[in-house]
Amino acid sequence: MTASPMNVSVIGAGHVGLVAAVSFAEIGHQVVAVDENAEKIALLLQRVAPFHEPGLPELLEKNVSEGKLSFSAEIADAVRDAEVVFICVGTPARTSGEANLLAVERVARQIARRLDGERGPVVLVQKSTVPAGTAGRVRRAVRLENPAIADRLEVVSNPEFLREGRAVQDSLEPERILVGADSAHAFEVMRRLNRPLTDKGCSYIETDIKTAEIAKHASNAFLALKISYANALARVCELAGADVVQVADIMGADPRIGRSFLNAGLGFGGYCLPKDIQAFERLASGWGYDFPMLREVERLNQEALEGTLRKIREGLWNLEDKRIGLLGLSFKPGTDDVRLAPALELAKRLLREGALVVGYDPEANANAKEELSDLQIAVDPYEAATGVHCLVVCTEWPEFRELDLHRLRAVMAYPMVVDGRNLFSRRDMASAGFIYFPTGRPPVDFDAHLRGAPRVDVAAGPP
Ligand code: UDX
Repeated sequence: MTASPMNVSVIGAGHVGLVAAVSFAEIGHQVVAVDENAEKIALLLQRVAPFHEPGLPELLEKNVSEGKLSFSAEIADAVRDAEVVFICVGTPARTSGEANLLAVERVARQIARRLDGERGPVVLVQKSTVPAGTAGRVRRAVRLENPAIADRLEVVSNPEFLREGRAVQDSLEPERILVGADSAHAFEVMRRLNRPLTDKGCSYIETDIKTAEIAKHASNAFLALKISYANALARVCELAGADVVQVADIMGADPRIGRSFLNAGLGFGGYCLPKDIQAFERLASGWGYDFPMLREVERLNQEALEGTLRKIREGLWNLEDKRIGLLGLSFKPGTDDVRLAPALELAKRLLREGALVVGYDPEANANAKEELSDLQIAVDPYEAATGVHCLVVCTEWPEFRELDLHRLRAVMAYPMVVDGRNLFSRRDMASAGFIYFPTGRPPVDFDAHLRGAPRVDVAAGPP
């Protein structure tokens, strides 16, 4: 898997940029990654990954040692000889929901200023998720900043489809690569760049820039829509006494629907889905199309969190002076990222209502504490459960499935578990003596619990 080496630079060494940089180095290119955060660059120069992402530390070490990957805090160093420059800076949401593109514009202007009028053509690739129309704005910003290089600079949209926690794998073995461009040269450069990946047979789609930009929003919004649909189904199942997991399995057996992203729970979080759905709704509205379905997806996501909160309140009555443990703080397993993590939103709400909240996460403890200083952090799941009146599963880390349920119950003040990710089986929780509230599935409620271990009832019910 090697390429004819090209000089590539990547501006922004966050989740998207750093993974792109190590991946392009890994497939044979010569890569310089730039970030204005000098501390991050200092870490990277010592070959330390600044965030948790499986496979990243190994590829970082390997490609830096082999001299294919270097880092700099200076855009000028990176773009001097680059044939392709990726813009991978953050596009946070403004309070209006629109994406804030200040960093994209700033970087585009910096690049333009540092390009020499005598140099060969350079392809400027937008990889951060940006609203449709951004490529055109980048092109204009570059022209205004440095008219001398305007005819040598081409703009491409190459949205990433990386999932945190498996971003390296997604990047090296992508299901699809999407390239939006409007010149034969730009398409040719992107084909050459990606050849080691396309040689392995992944789908490679070339389109115009706007279509590429919209396709990214459409994909993320649809994933969010699937999750919100499952969460609405969970409410219906709870009211009707049915099991949402089985409903999702049955739906998912139809290949037209598919099983993935139908897991009901605490709702979706992270840096992409919540932000993208808002941005897409604002964009559509800007073009004159009202898209209430997207607002509804967001509302259902809030409702999913409310539903979990309601179960905790119902179980505990007043929250003041109650101790509540949270298992999992990252927005999903496999990452230390807590941005818009439902667990932290839940923690904030519980703290506001007077509870004492203690959390544990295999990777995200430090980030969670930084984000929410009132949250107490435990060193392991059993410590998080010690003395609590209720334990809430917020993130479905696989290691939580291996917990010793009897030991867990023994350290808790009340044997109550609210499962915001349907991690445990009802049968196991009942036989370990828990009052158990899963999401969209029949609970082991107080009555069942007080009747003694409700084994007969449970044997007949869903797992
Ligand atoms: C997402 C997209 O999947 C990816 O293609 C895009 O490039 C970036 O955004 P990511 O943010 O890493 O990736 O997370 P993802 O795996 O999509 O999960 C997002 C959220 O949805 C998580 O909070 C997760 O817990 C939640 N989720 C996911 C559910 O609640 N139910 C599901 O069935 C699936």
